[in-house]
Amino acid sequence: MPTHRYIVTAFALAIVAACSNTDDTNQPTAAPTAETSDSGAALSRNTNGALAAEVRTLAAGRGITPLENPPPIRASLVRLGRALAFDKVLSGNRDISCMTCHLASFGTGDARSLSIGQGGTGLGPSRVHPEGTFIPRNAPPAFNLHAMKTLFWDGRVNRDDAGLVHTPIGDKVTPKMTAVFEFGALSALPLFPVLNRAEMRAATGNELAAFRDDQETETWAALMKRLGAIRQYRQLFQAAYPGQKFEDMNFAHASNAIAAFLINKMAFNRSPWDRFLAGDDRALTDLQLAGAKGFMSARCSICHNGPAFTDNLFHNVALAQLGPGEGDGAGGFDDFGRMRVTGNAAEKYAFRTTPLRNVELTGPWGHAGQFTTLRAFVDHYSESDTKLRNFDVMQLEALLRGTVQPTTEAILATRDPLLAGMVFPATAGDAVTAFLTALTDPRAREIRGITPRSVPSGLPVDGAEFAAGPTSEDF
Ligand code: HEC
Ligand code: HEC
Repeated sequence: MPTHRYIVTAFALAIVAACSNTDDTNQPTAAPTAETSDSGAALSRNTNGALAAEVRTLAAGRGITPLENPPPIRASLVRLGRALAFDKVLSGNRDISCMTCHLASFGTGDARSLSIGQGGTGLGPSRVHPEGTFIPRNAPPAFNLHAMKTLFWDGRVNRDDAGLVHTPIGDKVTPKMTAVFEFGALSALPLFPVLNRAEMRAATGNELAAFRDDQETETWAALMKRLGAIRQYRQLFQAAYPGQKFEDMNFAHASNAIAAFLINKMAFNRSPWDRFLAGDDRALTDLQLAGAKGFMSARCSICHNGPAFTDNLFHNVALAQLGPGEGDGAGGFDDFGRMRVTGNAAEKYAFRTTPLRNVELTGPWGHAGQFTTLRAFVDHYSESDTKLRNFDVMQLEALLRGTVQPTTEAILATRDPLLAGMVFPATAGDAVTAFLTALTDPRAREIRGITPRSVPSGLPVDGAEFAAGPTSEDF
């Protein structure tokens, strides 16, 4: 990169001093603007070759390798999946799509602690529900899902080492359906939000809501009936699965296509960290490199490891429980996490180790959006027992403040032993947080172009106002 760009950046920073410390993008495709290269960090590029070599060795020791590209996928399948992901026709009352909660303009989340499902209005932080209803958990991002073996915060949809896909409804995902899956557990995941009454199906008011909760097969069939009534969908399905008639397809064909879209459009493996792994010592700033060393040599990387910074396992890291809960505990407001799946009491309050690529863009953080700044989340790990006891509810939106459960001691009883005795100074927290921002692929900051202006059902597209530009496709 030309030297004069550093100078421009330095001036921009002097003027916009309040800008966050995001890293210089250095993307050949991105124009250098104040928004994409606003880092004073450029002034202190690392030049310590010995430390860089040490960090690379530590990372390799934890299996923190470059993240591979997703497999190539036929364009017709991605095209179908994109239409479905943005189409409210998949929701009972035709008022919410998958991407309403996984918004392109908010890092494929919704920028809320807890999501607001069907029946709500508005988008992202300004979405409201007439009855104040929340979804029990935070909407995770859809980034780099090709690297994940376990899905959902409690891993209830997953792929085992033998390659078999497991879901909470066993045989109801039939061999005929699993035969359609091309992307492991992710091909099964979209089968579930459409069944969930709070997220998409609704309690009343449509033919999907009329089915009992154990009538998954009938609900999916009714969805296919809806889709089959739209001529363009019949064409998109038949193009995506050449040689097959729409009549012979089932909702697994839709689910698999949505997985294809997510994998194909949401893979981001060109962060400063990737350039660093590839041998560019100067890709990280001094502070980021110091933070990388802290992250690799402290306990963080015992759990956050591998190319996506997750062990795909479950741990209790002592986060407060809030929101409507999953029906657990005496009042039903608790969420026992992984224990809900395995029944193992030792896994009470354990959740999947979150992957950390692009983590800077995916707040609020934690399975219930407990923290609204990344810095605060990192700080939580230092004396996490004390932090949990003193959890500050004022960082939550007003409606959630009174919902924090009085379960502190029960949470600490199954806290992961790795967190015992973990104490670090604020300077270490600063450095680790700076390191986490080096995991941002600059292209992930601007993915609004994936939002189509229209979808085959003709229903309005959430986020379509951001869909301008030549990359936006109409259906
Ligand atoms: C009402 C908001 C909402 C809607 C609508 C919604 N999601 Fe989600 N999504 C969530 C929440 C909340 C979770 C976490 C749930 C959990 O872990 O129990 C989630 C989890 C996921 C995950 C798992 C990611 C991971 O890292 O494990 C994927 C993938 C996903 N959703 C895709 C979809 C698709 C595809 C649709 C449409 C068929 C959809 N979502 C509809 C809120 C929503
Ligand atoms: C014992 C395993 C373990 C250790 C050690 C650990 N983490 Fe985590 N981390 C997790 C789990 C599990 C979650 C998800 C917890 C939840 O939401 O309930 C998580 C969540 C996070 C998140 C939030 C991500 C999001 O999108 O919500 C960040 C950031 C994070 N960890 C960074 C770190 C840092 C930095 C360290 C070291 C100081 C560290 N972790 C140490 C297991 C661990």
